[in-house]
Amino acid sequence: MHHIMRAGVSLGCLAATVAAATIKCRDCTQTLSRDVVVVGGGASGAHAAVWLRDNGHSVVVVEKADQLGGHTDFYTDPATGKSINVGVQAWMEYKDAFDFPKRMNVSTGGSMEFTANEAKFIDYKTGQPVPDYAAPAAADMYPALQRYLDVLEKYEDMVLPGFFNFPDPANIPEDLLMPFVQFVEKYDLAAAVPQIWDSTAQGLGDTMNMPALWVIQASGIPMVRALLGLGAAAVPPSGRLYDLFESVANFLGDDVLYSSTVVSAKRFNSNNPQKGVSLKVQGADGKMTCIEAKRLLLAIEPTPENMAPFDLDKTEQGVLGTFKYPTVYAGILRHPSLQTLNAYTDRAPGSAHNNYTVFPVAPQVGRIDYLGGTEDLFQFTAVGSSSDTPESMQALIAQSIDTMIEAGTLPASEGGSLSFNIFANHGHMHAHVTADDLRAGFMQKLNALQGRSHTWYTGAAFSAGFATVLWEYNKVLLPRVVEGL
Ligand SMILES: Cc1cc2nc3c(=O)[nH]c(=O)nc-3n(C[C@H](O)[C@H](O)[C@H](O)COP(=O)(O)OP(=O)(O)OC[C@H]3O[C@@H](n4cnc5c(N)ncnc54)[C@H](O)[C@@H]3O)c2cc1C
Ligand SMILES: *[C@@H]1O[C@H](CO)[C@@H](O)[C@H](O)[C@H]1NC(C)=O
Ligand SMILES: *[C@@H]1O[C@H](CO)[C@@H](O)[C@H](O)[C@H]1NC(C)=O
Repeated sequence: MHHIMRAGVSLGCLAATVAAATIKCRDCTQTLSRDVVVVGGGASGAHAAVWLRDNGHSVVVVEKADQLGGHTDFYTDPATGKSINVGVQAWMEYKDAFDFPKRMNVSTGGSMEFTANEAKFIDYKTGQPVPDYAAPAAADMYPALQRYLDVLEKYEDMVLPGFFNFPDPANIPEDLLMPFVQFVEKYDLAAAVPQIWDSTAQGLGDTMNMPALWVIQASGIPMVRALLGLGAAAVPPSGRLYDLFESVANFLGDDVLYSSTVVSAKRFNSNNPQKGVSLKVQGADGKMTCIEAKRLLLAIEPTPENMAPFDLDKTEQGVLGTFKYPTVYAGILRHPSLQTLNAYTDRAPGSAHNNYTVFPVAPQVGRIDYLGGTEDLFQFTAVGSSSDTPESMQALIAQSIDTMIEAGTLPASEGGSLSFNIFANHGHMHAHVTADDLRAGFMQKLNALQGRSHTWYTGAAFSAGFATVLWEYNKVLLPRVVEGL
């Protein structure tokens, strides 16, 4: 019986911990004691770990992947040796966020290169160009982006760098709750929407019908300032954003457990300051590490799947379970029918004759865009529903290209077919809730989770999906996390 218990992946360690009321873990090959354990080493988790070290606290990061950086990934083109950012493309200037790359000796002197391929606006469902569609003229787009920015600035303090000052339900501005399409009409923003949609907001899945709040989080002040040339869209001189996470990895050294996931957790009540959290973590080699920490900082999307090992109570499950998520995919592909120097952009048929208020709804392939300086590589982004998978989205991409060939939009090709050089599954992101959830006090309930059972949260769901915003969010959150340590 004893042996069976110990062989059990999730039971052995916890049973021992709870029964003996001790933090000793017999199943583990090692036990680490730290002030803070950070789960997830992407933009927010990597920054938090450095901040904690710099402020004199011991830390360990548990990272599922074999590298830090999360959505910041890269591909090296064997044909040209060129390093290509996959996922995160630039750091959008926001407050003092560039302090972080500077701290890690990574310069932000470079600037994102916007590709200028010939855009073809295609209804991916029929494979045919959308009739009489033209992108808004610059003379219309820039003033519309400026009008959008003017509205965003009114609400900046409520939503950036997180929801710390989000108003009580009775005082939430109607502008944030109304469907984005209505917001666009109210402020005459239509000429800005294709740019907002193409750059980030399509990730929401049904962008035009989301409460405007979520579009504002997905494409907010730092993004719009960069588009207007009022803020930098910075990259390191090498152009490779991953340089930052290489530097963080060097700095943190053995304090990162790679290819590791939490299999079980015991979180003590916050009223008990003596005990924090005990985690059991499994590495790629199957070996278990026990972690005893005074605080737990979750820097991952709080999906039910990600939260399962943390033994959430009913309140936590209720709040975090309210979030809905589309799924996002990006990467690099090639197909002999695709024409270099072109960008194939998905548009809804209703956008014919320049109606910039109708856009495709997930699952959809947002864009297949030639990568300048390569022989035949194309970058893509695609957005799925909550239940889409890499397989279903690869099939949708293949089908979309075939449909364009059948419609005569792309030439047929002999030999060769679709191949993915890199297919990045960004999974569930753009966490959002309905306007009714917001009216029912969702944000207040979300904020109240901070510190419950020694557990704290950072990452895009609690802030916005921009690395620089997350670094500023951490600067507000982390002093609270370490209070009393
Ligand atoms: C295609 C694309 C383009 C983007 N472009 C930009 C851009 O140009 N600029 C920008 O600022 N932002 C961009 N973003 C947004 C980006 O999501 C955020 O900037 C930022 O990466 C979010 O940081 P995060 O820490 O919340 O999550 P992530 O960076 O995703 O980090 C989460 C980390 O946790 C790990 N993890 C996940 N689950 C677990 C688990 N259960 N246990 C342990 N570890 C786990 C992951 O491997 C990952 O390393 C882009 C996103 C995508 C998908
Ligand atoms: C940055 O460079 C300085 C000077 O060379 C060095 O002392 C420091 O350790 C470096 N920091 C990091 C995080 O690499
Ligand atoms: C754009 O299309 C939508 C959906 O068909 C329609 O409701 C709206 O009136 C159209 N707008 C314009 C300006 O034509």
